Amino acid sequence: MYNRLPLLSLTVFLCACSSTKPKPMTLPIAKDIHSFSNPQQIAVRHADLDLSVIFDQKTLQGTAVLWLDRTDPRARQLVLDTRDLQIDETETSHDNSKWREAPFHFGKSDKILGRALAIDLPADARFVRIRYSTDPSASGLQWLSPAQTAGKQHPFLFSQSEPIAARSWIPLQDSPGVRMTYSAHIKTPAELTAVMSAEHDAASKGDFRFHMNEPIPPYLIAISVGDLAFQETGKRTGVYAEPSVVAKAAKEFEDTEKMIEAAERLFGPYRWGRYDLLVLPPSFPFGGMENPRLTFATPTVLAGDKSLVSLVAHELAHSWSGNLVTNATWRDFWLNEGFTVYIERRIQEEVYGRAREGMEAALGRQELEHEMAGLDPKDQVLHIDLAGRDPDDGMTLVPYEKGALLLRQIEETFGRERFDKYLRGYFDRFAFQSITTAHALAYMHENLFAEAPELAAKIPLDQWVNQPGLPPGAPDPKSDAFGKVQAQASAWVKGTVHAAQLQTAGWTTQEWLHFLRSLPDKLSAKQMAELDAAFHFTASGNDEILQQWLVMSVRNGYAAADEKLGDFLLTVGRRKYIKPLYEELVKTPAGKQRAASIYERARPGYHPMAQTTIDGILR
Ligand code: BES
Ligand code: ZN
Repeated sequence: MYNRLPLLSLTVFLCACSSTKPKPMTLPIAKDIHSFSNPQQIAVRHADLDLSVIFDQKTLQGTAVLWLDRTDPRARQLVLDTRDLQIDETETSHDNSKWREAPFHFGKSDKILGRALAIDLPADARFVRIRYSTDPSASGLQWLSPAQTAGKQHPFLFSQSEPIAARSWIPLQDSPGVRMTYSAHIKTPAELTAVMSAEHDAASKGDFRFHMNEPIPPYLIAISVGDLAFQETGKRTGVYAEPSVVAKAAKEFEDTEKMIEAAERLFGPYRWGRYDLLVLPPSFPFGGMENPRLTFATPTVLAGDKSLVSLVAHELAHSWSGNLVTNATWRDFWLNEGFTVYIERRIQEEVYGRAREGMEAALGRQELEHEMAGLDPKDQVLHIDLAGRDPDDGMTLVPYEKGALLLRQIEETFGRERFDKYLRGYFDRFAFQSITTAHALAYMHENLFAEAPELAAKIPLDQWVNQPGLPPGAPDPKSDAFGKVQAQASAWVKGTVHAAQLQTAGWTTQEWLHFLRSLPDKLSAKQMAELDAAFHFTASGNDEILQQWLVMSVRNGYAAADEKLGDFLLTVGRRKYIKPLYEELVKTPAGKQRAASIYERARPGYHPMAQTTIDGILR
C-alpha cells in the first residue's frame, strides 16, 4: 500500500530548527468530511462555556466564548458545526472584553451533519461569543425523568458527544482533528450535582466551575447532572453514581488504580491527573465512554463479581489511545478502538492473569467473525470509506477486534519487548495530537518495520488495513478453559448428559458466555427449559449472560423468558444489548408485533442514538 499512500514521511513534520535535535512539529489539521468547519484557516483553540441546565424545558441555555487561532489572515468567516441549536446572537471581540454584534448565517441542513454556522469576523477579531440554547431532542443529550433513575426523585442529564453529537449542544468545530482546551460555568437546580470531563474548581449549591487544560477533541467534552454521590476507590480514582448505586460501584471498580499502574508500566505515564468513573442510569446507550478524567459507564457492568470490568480497562486504555493520540477523522477510528482493545487486553492480563485475557480475546475474535459474516466487504476494512455516510456506520467490531488482532500479530512477530517500546514511543511522539491512518502507518514503517524488514515482511499490512476479512494467519486467540466448556456443551447437545449433570463448577462469566454461544441456534422448548431449570439464566443478575439468553429465548420461542425480555427492553438502553434483541424479534410476524408494542413504550426512554438505531430495525 505504501506506493498508494500519499508520499508522506514523518520527517516532513520535523522542523530543522537551529537546535541540534529536530523537534517534532504539530501536524496540520486533517480535512474531515464529517465537519463543515474551517479549522485550517481559523481554528478554535479554547471554549469557555456558561450554561444553565433547565430540566423543565430540557434545554441548556447560555453562551460559548470561542478563542480563535487565525492561521489564514485573509479568512473572514468562522465556520462552526451545529445541529438543532437555536442561535440567539453572535458577537466578536479582539480582547475578550469589548464585544460587538456580528452577522451569522446558517448553511443548508444535512440529515447526518446538521448545519454550518458561519460568523463574519472583523480583521482583528480573536474571540467570538455565541448566545444559544439546545433543543429538547438534541442528539448528544439525554434528559431523564425521575422515573428513569435509581432514586426516582430527581431528573438526570448526560451528554454523549462521540462521534459527531457535540455540535448538538455546543456550537464548535466538531472534528476530532481539532484540539482545544475548555472551561465551563454550569448552573443547575440547587439539589443536583454537575460533573464534566474536566477538573472541577470550587463549587457551591447549583453552581459549578470546570477547566480542562489539555487540548482535547470536541467529542470528549462531556457533562452530566443528577443526584450524584462520590466514593473514593484509590489515591487518584473514585466513582460518581446515584446514592443507592455508589457503594456497589465502588466495590466493583476497586481495582481501577491497579489498572492504571499496569498501563503506566507498559505505556508511560497517565497524563490526566485523576481517573474517576460515572455510573449512569441504564438508558446510557453505550457500555462506556472515555471522557477524559471521567469515564461514563453503563450500570449493566455492575455484575457484583468484577467479571465485566474489562470495560474499565478499555475506557482507561483510551487515556493513551484515543484521548492522548486521537483519530484525526472517523475513517481512522480503528486507531482509537483497535489500539484500545489491544491495550485493554494487556491491562487485563496484568491485573487478572493470562487465563482471563485469553478468554476475552477468544470471545472477541468469535464475535468479530460472527458480525463480519453479515457485513458488506467494504465495511470489513480498517481504513473504512465513510463518504456520504454517518460515522456511526463504521462503528462495528471491525475497528475494535480486527484492529486489535493486527496489533497482536505485530506484537507476536516483533516480540513484546520491542513492540511495547515502540508503542510507548508512539504515544510520546503523538501525545495530544490527532493523526490519520497514513501518519500511524508511516511512523510504524520508520520506527519499527525499517529496523527489521525480514519481520515486517510477515505482516500483510495492506491486507489488514485496506482489504475485507481477516488475512490468513491472523492471530486466533485460544483459551484452554474454553476447550472444556465446549466439551460440556457438546455432551449436552448430544443428549448423553442432563444439563444438571454438566461439570460447570467454578465457571466464570466468560465461560458461561462461551457455553451459551457454543450451543446450536435452534433448541427445543424442552431443551431451553432444561437449561433454565439447571442454571437459572432467566433470573441471571449478570446482564451480559442475561442478554445472550434472551436472544436465544426469542430465537427459540421460549415463552418463560417473555416477561423478563419486556422488563429488559423497557429499562436497559445499551445499544449493543437491545439491537440484537429487536433484530431477533422482527424475524417472525408475531415477534415483529411484539417488538413494535414493546418499542412503543420503550422508545421514549431510549437515547436519541439508540432510537435512531432501533427505528431502522422496526421501520
Ligand atoms: N468510544 C467508545 C464508545 C463510542 C464509540 C461512542 C463510537 C460513540 C461512538 C467506547 O470506548 C467503547 O468502545 N465502548 C464500548 C465498550 C468497550 C468495552 C468495547 C461499548 O460501549 O460497547
Ligand atoms: Zn473504545
